[in-house]
Amino acid sequence: MRGFASLRPRKGSLISEFSDHLSLATLQKKQATALRAAKVDAELASKAKSEFIANMSHELRTPLNAIIGFSDMLHTETVTSPEKVHEYSGYIKHAAEHLLELINGILDISKAQAGKLSVEREPVDLRAILASCLLIVEAKAREKHVTVRCKVQDDLPRVMGDTLRLKQILINLLGNAVKFTPEHGLVSLHADVPAPGDFAWVVVEDNGIGMSQMEVQTALRPFGQVDTGFSKRHEGTGLGLPIAYALAKLHGGDLQITSQKGNGTRVTLTLPLATAAAEAALR
Ligand SMILES: Nc1ncnc2c1ncn2[C@@H]1O[C@H](COP(=O)(O)OP(=O)(O)OP(=O)(O)O)[C@@H](O)[C@H]1O
Ligand SMILES: [Mg+2]
Repeated sequence: MRGFASLRPRKGSLISEFSDHLSLATLQKKQATALRAAKVDAELASKAKSEFIANMSHELRTPLNAIIGFSDMLHTETVTSPEKVHEYSGYIKHAAEHLLELINGILDISKAQAGKLSVEREPVDLRAILASCLLIVEAKAREKHVTVRCKVQDDLPRVMGDTLRLKQILINLLGNAVKFTPEHGLVSLHADVPAPGDFAWVVVEDNGIGMSQMEVQTALRPFGQVDTGFSKRHEGTGLGLPIAYALAKLHGGDLQITSQKGNGTRVTLTLPLATAAAEAALR
């Protein structure tokens, strides 16, 4: 404050005293507000962390208990008939696979939250990626008599991406569309490059159970499965969408969800097109 003495009113005057008080009070108020904001931020971060850990422990315990319970029955020969042994070992395999999926998801989400998730970005063939993802979800769709329609621009240009990570995003989006659409529903996949043309758009749409605005926010949070009678009958970790969102952003793209309760969901993934420089570097 001393450096500004020449700008201040005459020393000792009433106005100078008033101005000193005012600047001190303003400074104190600003400091108190900043302190309160930092405290609220820290509390929110700590609450989110505790919720994440509580959810994670719960999600890990469920399949672990199944593995321990069923393997104990096999080990102590409580069940011996070949059919039962086959059935129970199947449950163990299923729970172990779910556990692996969970752990991979938790690792991804933790890395994303710590800003340590990274993707390789090189020109990749989006058409081929979409085709392989469709193959994976079509079997499940057939089981449920859900029709899957696909319309991909013939000369769809390549995008900058990481093939494995793009598959991870798309398998989750298509898997969700099939999973949350009742029997005989419709899922569609569109991909094109709308003008002005720096991004490819991939739209996954379904006419399934849909979500309210609030539920969309929940769905984007780790373990945020929307609590409806329908979705509770479905499997999953509740990590797919937040990871897909983080991965889309890491690709320099975006993931937008529009949905209406009871009226289906549309997820739009945008991905930057491969640059001429990146294509040239590959040659
Ligand atoms: N297309 C959709 N229609 C309706 N609800 C959806 C849709 N996609 C996601 N949701 C809701 O959002 C939740 C979170 O989706 P997310 O993909 O993260 O998890 P999940 O599919 O339950 O499990 P996983 O981690 O195996 O993907 C779902 O559990 C569901 O409640
Ligand atoms: Mg999912």
